[in-house]
Amino acid sequence: MKTEKLIDVDAVARAAKIIKSGELVAVPTETVYGLAADANNPDAVAKIFAAKGRPADHPLIVHIASAEHLTNWAEHIPDSAFQLAAAFWPGPLTFILPKKNCVNNVVTGGHKSVGVRCPAHPLMRELLLELNTGLAAPSANPYKKISPTTAEQVLFGLEGKIAAVLDGGPCEVGLESTILDLTVETPRILRAGPISKAQIEQVLGVEVLLPKKHNIAVSGNVKAHYQPNKPLYAFSTEELKAKLLQPRNDIAVLYYTATLVSHIEQARLPSLKLGEDKPSYAKGLYYGLFTLDKADIREIWLELPPQNELWVDVHDRLSRAVSN
Ligand code: TXA
Ligand code: MG
Repeated sequence: MKTEKLIDVDAVARAAKIIKSGELVAVPTETVYGLAADANNPDAVAKIFAAKGRPADHPLIVHIASAEHLTNWAEHIPDSAFQLAAAFWPGPLTFILPKKNCVNNVVTGGHKSVGVRCPAHPLMRELLLELNTGLAAPSANPYKKISPTTAEQVLFGLEGKIAAVLDGGPCEVGLESTILDLTVETPRILRAGPISKAQIEQVLGVEVLLPKKHNIAVSGNVKAHYQPNKPLYAFSTEELKAKLLQPRNDIAVLYYTATLVSHIEQARLPSLKLGEDKPSYAKGLYYGLFTLDKADIREIWLELPPQNELWVDVHDRLSRAVSN
């Protein structure tokens, strides 16, 4: 199949038409690109699993236009969901809620719960309003690979396997949404993300759980995930400085501290510098890995960010992406 790149003024209308016809369109969100199908069309949703090579029991997030649509997909919705939606939607926060009977098992991978989120990207919002349904969408990457944050990156992984990509430019956030399980007594974060534990607690006025490991069989909980093709090794700033004193010529470096610039220039290595604050580091991370992965090198060396609460989502993704 030829994958259309939709970028003109009528791109959203064309994307809506393709989705209505039961085909897949990769769509921009503020976090990462998603691979979307009409959540009410099980045959279309099944194509998502085929295109990604994703196991059928890994549930998908349903994307909706506003909190008013929550009741179309979930039941027994606690007040906390509406409070959090008022504070953070549209935005990078996904709720796990008891699913409504009518929600197809293909979407939820056979689970009794459903993931729901209202994304913030203007083109995605326009598309959701035009379609007036939910869009089932995982990240638009082949299974276990890095989530795409540009249309180019989507095409690199899925060209020929999907009908179209709606080009909305580079994603603002660059890291997948926070996933919050609201089916349990005390809300718990299943995937750390851009909306932090502290932000959620501030709205709810109660403590929420952030288990280090949980045993729920979902794709983001697989150890080897978010991986570039080349081996990725992570080092502290000091370790990296020391290693760069005896550089090899077959590596590329993804780093963020300004003090490393001269070391890297001297070593004459392909490299990319990420932003020094958490939002800019996160925004550039996947694109940086994707870009260096394509260079003529054997390994990527990455400078680890600080080990503190603020960076917990970045460390979560890195721990699954690195080879060491
Ligand atoms: O930012 C994001 O969340 C992006 C954009 C496209 O919205 N989506 C995304 O989807 O990262 P995906 O499928 O790559 O990761 C979603 C995670 C998976 O680990 C999935 O298994 C989990 O959410 N998930 C979805 N529904 C669930 C459910 N009912 N119970 C537990 N986990 C669920
Ligand atoms: Mg994913």
